[in-house]
Amino acid sequence: MSEPYKIGIAGLGTVGASTLQLLVNENARISARAGRPLKVTGINARDRAKDRGVDLAAFEWFDDPVALAKSNGIDMFIEMIGGSEGVAKASVEAALASGKAVVTANKALVAHHGAALSKLAEETKGASLHFEPAVAGGIPAIKALREGMAGNGVTRVSGILNGTCNYILTEMETTGAAFAGVLADAQALGYAETDPTADVGGFDAAHKLAIMAAIAFGQQINFDAVQIDGIENVSAEDIEAAADMGYRIRLLGVAERTDAGVSQRVRPCLTPTNSPLGKITGVTNAVLIEGDAIGAAMLTGPGAGGYATASAVLADVVDAARGNCPPTFGLPVGDLATASTDPAADEGAFYMRVSLKDQPGTLAAVAAALGKEGISIHRMRQHDHTGDMAPVTIVTHSTTLAAVDRAKANIASLDVSLAPPVSMRIVGV
Ligand SMILES: NC(=O)c1ccc[n+]([C@@H]2O[C@H](COP(=O)([O-])OP(=O)(O)OC[C@H]3O[C@@H](n4cnc5c(N)ncnc54)[C@H](OP(=O)(O)O)[C@@H]3O)[C@@H](O)[C@H]2O)c1
Repeated sequence: MSEPYKIGIAGLGTVGASTLQLLVNENARISARAGRPLKVTGINARDRAKDRGVDLAAFEWFDDPVALAKSNGIDMFIEMIGGSEGVAKASVEAALASGKAVVTANKALVAHHGAALSKLAEETKGASLHFEPAVAGGIPAIKALREGMAGNGVTRVSGILNGTCNYILTEMETTGAAFAGVLADAQALGYAETDPTADVGGFDAAHKLAIMAAIAFGQQINFDAVQIDGIENVSAEDIEAAADMGYRIRLLGVAERTDAGVSQRVRPCLTPTNSPLGKITGVTNAVLIEGDAIGAAMLTGPGAGGYATASAVLADVVDAARGNCPPTFGLPVGDLATASTDPAADEGAFYMRVSLKDQPGTLAAVAAALGKEGISIHRMRQHDHTGDMAPVTIVTHSTTLAAVDRAKANIASLDVSLAPPVSMRIVGV
């Protein structure tokens, strides 16, 4: 019988408690997969008295996660506290520095400090860093990208990376309601946090995209290079106009290799209703990987939830217990390229909505403003008038974001323009 693999868990909330329950209740099955007995020895949270769904008497309780991280009684430290700084960071650093394997679901921590933490893991005998649960919850996106796609030159990785946003956009689509009301309902139902900024502002999706981009393109993680735009300004009008033309609005994270580097963007985009990402509704997440050998492969599933995320934690636990510890970002830290960014490049079709005075010659003025920037119109549709306003939606042929921004400024300055034009990129995946 091989030696037990001893595990400490810090943070026993949604994910930590589910992980603990699975490690207790399904121990024989998961241990068999790990090739040795998995044994939780130490635990930590703030409130010792809280019910965590299992009897805690068998485990040593630690008031301080850093003390648990350094303890000689564990081989692996599972960090399920959250937050990019504070005790989560301090305890992960302490665990790595003392030669432990670390599993974290903490995308904020990995997005901001992943490079330094993986360097520490490489430099410390016995240490390793694992973060499958940090990206897209239960979907094994990291493994698929890092190991499953190792034979590919990845050209683009994209996805629906935040279930709260996808839920809100889906609800807006089906009910016709405005963002604020749907957000309030989502908060009441527990689908959105009291402070929704990380989700609806696009930051949570951006953390996940930065992690995947580093692996996909073999470069150092660079969260600051992600251009982020949330869903707060997506209007019911745009959702309806998009649907009218066969599109859905989705918060997409897209990282792609361009001639000048790698562009990383999180923003609301239009995607065809019948495209793989356009079909994703509700809280479901999706990760689409495009590579030169495979073409495209997509994974969908629950991007959050206790047991779903614990499933990804346990994949890492099994790997580490077996000694399967590939370089965190797919390459040794020293071999990762310097992060290259291409903030300017953004080429493709765009959606535009302009609000014009209902009078002769207005469309010609808009067409001229677009033509001046070399933007050609693929489709144009005029919607029902509201008072003396005529909303017009436009789908362009391939152009650049810079040209669209200049055209919007030109249109906004026209006498016939009644509100600032709106634009969104159309992503055909
Ligand atoms: N929830 C999901 O579906 C999901 C999905 C993917 C990734 N994640 C990530 O997983 C991590 C945990 O998320 P969660 O939803 O499980 O959070 P959570 O339910 O809020 O649980 C956090 C846990 O950390 C403990 N904690 C907080 N501050 C602490 C401190 N200073 N010292 C010790 N323990 C402390 C809390 O203790 P008490 O219970 O005693 O208050 C609680 O047990 C986060 O990084 C999150 O981004 C979550």
